[in-house]
Amino acid sequence: MLRKIFLGVLLILITAIVVLVVVNLSNATEPFPETEVVHGAEVAADDRPWWEATTVYQVYPRSYQDSDGDGVGDIAGIISRLDYIADLGFETIWFSPFFKSPQKDFGYDVSDYYLPDPEYGDTVLVDSLIREIHKRDMKVVFDLVLNHSSEEHPWFQESRKGPDNPKSDWYLWRDGQGEDPPTNWHSALGMNGWHFDNGRQQWYFSSFLSFQPDLNWRNPEVKEAMFDVVRHWLDKGVDGFRLDIFNYIYEDPEFRDNPFSLRVVPTQDFTKMFWQEKKYNMNHPDDFTLAKELRGILDTYDPPRFMVGEVFGDHKTLRKFLGEKQDGLNLVFLFDISALEWNADFFRDKIQRIEAFYPYPYTPTYVFSNHDRIRSISLLGNDTQKAKALALLQLTLRGVPFYYQGEEIGMPMANIPGEQALDPLPAAFDWLPDFAKDQVINRDNCRTPMQWSGGANAGFTEAGAVPWLPVTPGYETLNVERQAAEAESLLATNKELLKIRSASEPLKWGSLKWMDEFSTGDILAFQRIYQKDRVNVLINISEEEKSLTVGEGLTLLFAAGNNELSGNHLVLGPNSGVILK
Ligand code: GLC
Ligand code: MG
Repeated sequence: MLRKIFLGVLLILITAIVVLVVVNLSNATEPFPETEVVHGAEVAADDRPWWEATTVYQVYPRSYQDSDGDGVGDIAGIISRLDYIADLGFETIWFSPFFKSPQKDFGYDVSDYYLPDPEYGDTVLVDSLIREIHKRDMKVVFDLVLNHSSEEHPWFQESRKGPDNPKSDWYLWRDGQGEDPPTNWHSALGMNGWHFDNGRQQWYFSSFLSFQPDLNWRNPEVKEAMFDVVRHWLDKGVDGFRLDIFNYIYEDPEFRDNPFSLRVVPTQDFTKMFWQEKKYNMNHPDDFTLAKELRGILDTYDPPRFMVGEVFGDHKTLRKFLGEKQDGLNLVFLFDISALEWNADFFRDKIQRIEAFYPYPYTPTYVFSNHDRIRSISLLGNDTQKAKALALLQLTLRGVPFYYQGEEIGMPMANIPGEQALDPLPAAFDWLPDFAKDQVINRDNCRTPMQWSGGANAGFTEAGAVPWLPVTPGYETLNVERQAAEAESLLATNKELLKIRSASEPLKWGSLKWMDEFSTGDILAFQRIYQKDRVNVLINISEEEKSLTVGEGLTLLFAAGNNELSGNHLVLGPNSGVILK
């Protein structure tokens, strides 16, 4: 009898484990949309907004260039490097936040949306940053954290005083259920998002960390206050915004509990993890409506402005942020492809999906690195040749490419252990094993100072100063100065590609058509077509040399790696590619 019970329990346990493993390993693939794919990106460039064809370079101000020797990058430092960015060939610069902040999340915890933090400079400097960028014919994008403020923002200080103050309802305050929080909602990080405030004797909700309380956007005063911020910067001439965790802004007004999910390990889009589906506090339909309201504000400005949303979800959901009539956010980050796998099928599948879900007049984005994730070069085993091939792909696809500072020279991840992190995330995940905290969770490792030269402190700050994060060993040889002097460097490759892209109508505006006869196996091959003009891109994602017979009369516009075109005979070296015209 006992034996039977034991075997029964064992069987149930094994079944449960098998189910869990299967559920957690499968990242169910999304079916392709039913809509017919339109390859019609051939509308004349004159009738299209500039941002559809721009290229974006992300600057993380704290780590770009220090001008005053305090070891922290600043606005004056950035201004001194604008010529570098312009010369490199990017057309738009996005700045991670430099607003007033206690810097617990290094600027993503804002305590004043109008002023720069004194560490970075003053208002005069911000104005001159905008002016200096425009003077160089570039555009400027600010980073807006609309979902939450810092706990040190006067709004929250006021709000936490008690239910009777004028800002009482500016954040999400609720009574608990006995000892328990008001709902079971997880934050973006998969942990309880409610925090008890001893002063007010109530719970407040935060989609990120506890010191970043979520604003209550259902309060019309909050909405107006944030719209004022948006208009303020547009009036100052800012050309666009990157919108921080835009898909966490609205929560369920009825505060319903999220459903249980078998998922423990996060899905790629973070909608399900740690036993929960974030049905009621992520991708709420009111977020899609807000996108349109903001678009309404931006569209009253001339020249046109744009927004790119940091949002997570499957493509069907992401597309809702853009609006059925392209009347929502102008762009959203498509992070799915940034989980890089170095094989042609991976890229083909991801790009085909993007083309199917975002046909013209939608504009896709291509991003592989930023201040939150593992730098792409490190996912490629620090292989410069692969990085060149990836650059060729990123800068020739249909969509807006986003680069992160240092990506242009292949700056690698640093090796700062989670225990020493300044980034607040590793401490928040203290239960995770060290290896996960060290690289995946510790964002310090992608935020180390920009490697300008082989000199003291990599040229980021003056000799003798202590940079806020250590410069990464290896900067002595891997830096801007050295690569600027080498014809075959990754920097030179990026510069050349950016130049070709800026001068090519098909690469800027054209539709994308697969060259089916070549785009099989290890080779990615597509054309970019704009009216009567076209270019061909062929990339070999493998260690083997490939020989192809291509059309007559083509010339080599660009080559990354060992490639040769003689007549119609094309040889593609390992992990390399070409643009033919
Ligand atoms: C976004 C930012 C990240 C920040 C978080 C909270 O994901 O990119 O750096 O920590 O939002 O604002
Ligand atoms: Mg929110």
